[in-house]
Amino acid sequence: MKTIIEPFKIKSVEPIYFTSRAQRQQILETAGYNPFLIKAEGVIIDLLTDSGTSAMSAKQWAGIMDGDESYAGSRSFFRFEHTVKKLTGFDFIIPTHQGRAAEKILFSLLGGAGKYFVSNTFFDTTRANIEFTGAEAVDFLTLEGKTPALVAPFKGNIDIDALAYFIAEKGAENIPLCMLTVTNNSGGGQPVSMQNIRETSELCRRYGIPFFIDACRFAENAFFIKTREKGYENASIVSIVQELFSYADGCTMSAKKDALVNIGGFLALNDTHLAQQAKNMLIVTEGFPTYGGLAGRDLEAIAQGLEEVLDEEYLKYRIRSIEYLGEKIHHAGVPIMMPTGGHAVYLDAKAFLPHIPPHQFPGVALCNEIYLEGGVRGVEIGSLMFGKYDASGRHVAPPLELVRLAIPRRVYTQSHIDYVAEVIIETYRKKQHIKGYKIAYEAPLLRHFTALLVPL
Ligand code: F0G
Repeated sequence: MKTIIEPFKIKSVEPIYFTSRAQRQQILETAGYNPFLIKAEGVIIDLLTDSGTSAMSAKQWAGIMDGDESYAGSRSFFRFEHTVKKLTGFDFIIPTHQGRAAEKILFSLLGGAGKYFVSNTFFDTTRANIEFTGAEAVDFLTLEGKTPALVAPFKGNIDIDALAYFIAEKGAENIPLCMLTVTNNSGGGQPVSMQNIRETSELCRRYGIPFFIDACRFAENAFFIKTREKGYENASIVSIVQELFSYADGCTMSAKKDALVNIGGFLALNDTHLAQQAKNMLIVTEGFPTYGGLAGRDLEAIAQGLEEVLDEEYLKYRIRSIEYLGEKIHHAGVPIMMPTGGHAVYLDAKAFLPHIPPHQFPGVALCNEIYLEGGVRGVEIGSLMFGKYDASGRHVAPPLELVRLAIPRRVYTQSHIDYVAEVIIETYRKKQHIKGYKIAYEAPLLRHFTALLVPL
């Protein structure tokens, strides 16, 4: 059969509230033309993020009921610990309330002024947690990854030569950790190859630099390895995942992605001394080491989700559903980042709206127009999120103006996705009438979350 179907049946549903274009116009105006400020009930299809938005399975909900809420030594913790250990092979498993809490602990312990952390691309919260300690976060994304229209299998790879050069230049003693983000969220959800992971690990080992994985989307990355990397065609997803982690000394994880839950995360590592320090900090900031920032039921749901996410039928459907949306709109001429990644389709707003200059926020304009057209919410990743001002107050644009349509896991059906494609293609047809925006209010930091805008 040609059609890849959703590998689940729906046992519980929640309503979608429909709105008219006139109502959405009103909602958007009230939200200061910032999609982050729209109430979720005003959204028909919500593609703001794939984080914490998964639908849990019947077995996960059963785990919620079965969770052991003991403060210390909870049975649910041991199930969670066992599952994470089996997958990652790491010795110490430390639960946190989400990914950034694990990052906060790790980088507070290793960071500080004069230090450099290196990566293919650090996610925003990771970078922020590094910079907060006074250290620098430096990305070495492969050149392929920086070219949106180029089709290549592993555009999330780190540039090993550039990394080696940097280590030699700055000195390994000033680099407390190297981290690979799999898949590379900020670079379009593009995967990292096993070869690249292995070579990065070898380079780090040679210099004695600890090597960690930002594992949020490890299963999606493993599926890309299976389908794109020579030698892994017949390997099981579990064995690919285990090999991937075997090259690393630890990982941070936001369970809100590939553990198929609505909240949770962990830090996992092999270094006994560092693990002890991390647990001490955990007790101050998150909670006792057998629950971290979570309830016992959350640990139960994570353990179950980590098993379900390895199902090849699930991953095939997951990756194909993203590709399907990308294909549909790409065939209609809509410019997108190629190839589609593991969790999202990224619209190239610069190419979509060439008549809107970066300082008039083409990504925001596109995001808002898609919302007006069909109630679909995406997120701008461009000048509003990453733009800066120079000394004379002029806007400095980032290299790309994108709109991310992140697909929640197991939430929307193929007809929802067909609808999203129609909305985008219709928006593309009307593109020349779309106008830019200016800022009416902005916060000094992370302005995209709260900015108020006005249409030009
Ligand atoms: N690392 C990556 C690669 C991420 O994508 C995220 C979150 C985090 C770390 C932080 O995890 O949210 O649990 O604290 N990404 C979300 C997104 C917010 O929309 O892409 P967290």
